[in-house]
Amino acid sequence: MVAVTTAVETGIDLADLAFWGRAPQERERDFARLRALERPVFFPERRVPLLRSGKGFHALVRHADVVEASRNAKVFSSEPAVTNPEPPGWVKHVFGDSMVNLDDPRHARLRRIVSRAFSPKMLAKLDDDIVRAAERIVDDVVAEGPRDFVAQVAARLPIHVICDMVGVPDEIRARVHRHVDVSTEYTGVRMSLPRTVAMAGRNMAALLALQRLVIKLGRERERDPAGDLVSALVTANVDGERLTPRELGSFFTLLLVAGNETARNTMAHGLKLITDTPDARDRLVSDFDTHIAGAIEETVRHVSPIMQFRRTVTQDHEIRGVHLAPGDKVVLFYGSANRDEEVFPDAARYDITRSPNPHVGFGGPGPHFCLGANLARQEIKIMFRELFTRLPGIRAVGEPELLLSNFDNSVRRQAFAY
Ligand code: HEM
Repeated sequence: MVAVTTAVETGIDLADLAFWGRAPQERERDFARLRALERPVFFPERRVPLLRSGKGFHALVRHADVVEASRNAKVFSSEPAVTNPEPPGWVKHVFGDSMVNLDDPRHARLRRIVSRAFSPKMLAKLDDDIVRAAERIVDDVVAEGPRDFVAQVAARLPIHVICDMVGVPDEIRARVHRHVDVSTEYTGVRMSLPRTVAMAGRNMAALLALQRLVIKLGRERERDPAGDLVSALVTANVDGERLTPRELGSFFTLLLVAGNETARNTMAHGLKLITDTPDARDRLVSDFDTHIAGAIEETVRHVSPIMQFRRTVTQDHEIRGVHLAPGDKVVLFYGSANRDEEVFPDAARYDITRSPNPHVGFGGPGPHFCLGANLARQEIKIMFRELFTRLPGIRAVGEPELLLSNFDNSVRRQAFAY
């Protein structure tokens, strides 16, 4: 067994939020150094306002280690939560029983019930609606003129698709949108304490309001099914399984949190990467259908829209000679695994023809692999087809305004032109 290497010895501190405020290229260099150490490094946790300080975590930065921890859910548990640092109590209250934070058998039961919503048949049904929504978005861009790609394009489609998919009635959509906007403002990163407290309060209120709206909708559909997904999820189906209205509320908030920012950030970063890589752009403009699937996978690899998730160790285990004890936390750094040169030659290069491309941007293989991966691919493909067909000169202008976060690789603003 080898001694644990600590943050101090490396001069790098992934637990310090200042690290996440540095330029992406600098962070890449540090992750490359950590990968070269060939064993997980231990990072003591920092105090962050409103977040409990935990005892620290082992960083998994190599592709093989992220894959192992994702696959082996018996040793690497998703309970009590997959975020790091330890989330405050109110977050656990809102998300505690959502499947991303659960192990089997509770996780498997929820995933079985809700996977129906993501079957190829259900996704095919959404196709026309996504095309119409993408057309409207481009109509509006043409009418208003290009300003901010995030607000005018990337932020509009994913939330619309999730609401349609679940069957959120038109009359409560505006309220859902408002709550989602507020709930994504606070990301747990460095701000002054009063501002953090105020934001976290607004955030919690928005998430709870969102849940209440959906729980109420679930109760209505339970009594009076309407042939939509909510009705299907809350009424007993062929297997006799159903979600309680409260589980439905948690599922919906998880969908919004998991499926909204991620898809939008992939689109916004994607436009910038395509703009900066002339051969990618040429390929997409000349033969969109051949290249878009590769472009989406490569964008998700390059960007890693979710930069990290965590697991908690359940039993004694060894990884690259380092002993992990029950209760130890490990953090899976997807962004680093996706740049592991052992798996991705010339990993910094954006190459939409890369093949194979076994990235872990949608999570590693295992029970929690992103349930919405195919939906995300479908949305991005339809949106980009509409953009590159109707506005073939579309390009990002200048640098994106990034959000300071250790979790979402989030773009707040991206100027564009066409
Ligand atoms: C490019 C877009 C997306 C990225 C990069 C992404 C990334 C991820 C990652 C890394 C996980 C793994 C969590 C883990 O292992 O603990 C995950 C899980 C999940 N994602 Fe996505 N996601 C995306 C889009 C979506 C969309 C559009 C939806 C739904 C509308 C969605 C719903 C979910 C759900 C429900 C889970 C939890 C699955 C489980 O615990 O069994 N995601 N996603």
